Amino acid sequence: MNIEFNSKNMTFNIKTENSSYVLGVLKNKYLINLYYGKKIESFHDGDIMDSLPTICCAGFSANDIGDDECEISTNDIPCEYPTYGSADFGTPAFHAVYGNGSAITKFEYVSHNIFSGKKPLKGLPSSYAEAEAEAQTLEITLKDSGTGILAVLSYTVFEGADALCRNVKIVNGGSEAVDIKSALSQSAYLFDKNFEFVHLSGAWCRERHIEKMPLTRATISVDSKRVSSSHFHSPFMALARPNATEDEGEVYGFSLCYSGNFIAQAEVNTYDVVRINMGINPFGFNWKLEAGEEFQTPEVISVYSAKGFGEMSRCYHKFYRKHLCRGVWRDKERPVLINNWEATYFDFNEEKILNIAKKAKEAGIELMVLDDGWFGKRDSDNCSLGDWVCDRNKLPDGLESLAQKVEAMGMKFGLWFEPEMVSPDSDLYRAHPDWCIHSGNRKCSLGRRQLVLDLSRKDVRDYVVKAVCDILKSAPVSYVKWDMNRNITEIGSAELPAEKQQELPHRYMLGLYDILERITSAFPDVLFEGCSGGGGRFDAGMLPYFPQYWTSDDSDAVERMYIQYGTSMVMPSITMGAHVSAVPNHQINRTTPLKTRGDIAMAGQFGYELDLATLSEEEFEEVKSQVKKYKEIREIVHKGDMYRLKSPFEGNNCAWLFVSEDKAEAVLTFATIKATPNDGKTIVKLCGLNGGAIYTNVENGKTYSGDYLMNAGISFKHNVDFKTEMISLKIKK
Ligand code: GLA
Repeated sequence: MNIEFNSKNMTFNIKTENSSYVLGVLKNKYLINLYYGKKIESFHDGDIMDSLPTICCAGFSANDIGDDECEISTNDIPCEYPTYGSADFGTPAFHAVYGNGSAITKFEYVSHNIFSGKKPLKGLPSSYAEAEAEAQTLEITLKDSGTGILAVLSYTVFEGADALCRNVKIVNGGSEAVDIKSALSQSAYLFDKNFEFVHLSGAWCRERHIEKMPLTRATISVDSKRVSSSHFHSPFMALARPNATEDEGEVYGFSLCYSGNFIAQAEVNTYDVVRINMGINPFGFNWKLEAGEEFQTPEVISVYSAKGFGEMSRCYHKFYRKHLCRGVWRDKERPVLINNWEATYFDFNEEKILNIAKKAKEAGIELMVLDDGWFGKRDSDNCSLGDWVCDRNKLPDGLESLAQKVEAMGMKFGLWFEPEMVSPDSDLYRAHPDWCIHSGNRKCSLGRRQLVLDLSRKDVRDYVVKAVCDILKSAPVSYVKWDMNRNITEIGSAELPAEKQQELPHRYMLGLYDILERITSAFPDVLFEGCSGGGGRFDAGMLPYFPQYWTSDDSDAVERMYIQYGTSMVMPSITMGAHVSAVPNHQINRTTPLKTRGDIAMAGQFGYELDLATLSEEEFEEVKSQVKKYKEIREIVHKGDMYRLKSPFEGNNCAWLFVSEDKAEAVLTFATIKATPNDGKTIVKLCGLNGGAIYTNVENGKTYSGDYLMNAGISFKHNVDFKTEMISLKIKK
């Protein structure tokens, strides 16, 4: 890690362990992007115009930043934070309308500052350094002299990490209010278009499937307008060489630390230069910035890998585990849990819950989670959200007594909430109909028969914080599942004036982050798991509050191969909630063996989502050994390096491997989706082992050298549908 400034040619070389991101200031004070890729220890000393990938002043390129002797056009150069109004007709990172009606901005370099450490982002989640020496930051201040508006571009790199963290702060240094139409977190550039745009697309129960398409001279983007990053697209994209594999080829990852409306875009211009834009979606966005005020954009965390997708993902995994997840649960061993949702749905009482807990305890499970239905009059999903008071009909002795009884069995107790919502049939809605997001008298569409609270309002936020904290204080609750089961429509706030209504999508997110900050810091020992109808909104912006996330409502083992494989592009396994549920599966009706369900779920944050009492004795014994096995391997799964070895998106098998940091232990899972009888075997070559060491297969005592496992590999038959095999390896002492 090291940020170098060369005053001779005004260049900045921002170095991570293996990459360089280079910027330069032209003589006329224009900040341009010169390079992003494999590390260059020292950039050249000469004229930076020589490093530009395009010709200057081609036809129809107005000379907007040159002088009479030197004709330069922003049409032709990679502007680091492009604006609208002059000769750059690409998508601007910044676009604003000023008091006089003009929408022209032209940023010029004013100053820079390099310092140790990293500043937190006001109101937004972001990566952090525990000690100043761990990180180094470059801040570059740009100014539009016509209006006094400033953009402070910030770049941080971390010791031992391969991530570049960027954000932009807009400061209104002028004397009148400005309407910001777009303030993206970044533009970055690649100087040829021989890349594929890779993103994670999905739906409820089908989250984060990998999609790839070649770049062409056009603009490709994914986005969200739902006020949630959502199930449908993730605020993540990668630009990968077409021949990039898991182990080889250049891949650039961009992950936005934000959970609301976003855009991720690659725009190829006529010179084949790719502009990579990422940030808050300009659609449906407006921010009135008064004189003297600041607007903070979310952070983009980018990773360059010269060694394929696998290396990119491992960089993200390590970085998110260490510098994005936080609090005691970042490093602490996470409990194996059981959740009653699919066992009982809303139909439970204390006895049923205690019976589930008792059986779970017998199986070695460590945490009993009571899901939806414990509050108000919630016997179905048509009421009571917002009324966070225990339903004494279901739980006559209250939550405290139930939690204590679970604790007395030697387990921890956890609870489900959906604090961002309100049911029309609730005391909260009857008392405060104005507290939901709505637009005047226009009818509000219901989603799962509920409305969304207006978290831009301080009174609403205070209510939510108090309601959740009161429950957490009232009983020994060690875990919270924080759910969010609809997206936002008919957007409007009763409190905001007309000219600020378009600020609501972002104000909602700021409100949510404020609530999460207050609640999680008031209960630092509670483990919070995020959820949004499964894995909607499972993004980098959630990890600082939720060190784990319910990856999908779809717990079918085959669907989970795709979902967990895709999610692992950017999210570490320690963050991925993965449970064994009943068969036929409640979402997709498929029956898979218990072993398969267990083996696939063990690649994440393991748990169960069924009534163990309904299992046969033999199955229950299998559950016991699954729990035992998971406890043996969880350290490797949670903190080891993940290697994806067979992609379900590319064939009939799925295989992944976790290797402990010291390479002494590894766990391999191989799965067959559809049986292919009379077929050859599939060879799986392992990665990341110690080549010279001898590994023992813990299950059958067979031994292999690391070199053998990595080069010759292990072969598997695939003549049975939905079959998995799990192999644990340990270096022979
Ligand atoms: C969502 C969650 C489920 C469950 C239900 C309860 O769908 O994803 O896991 O908690 O809500 O209503």
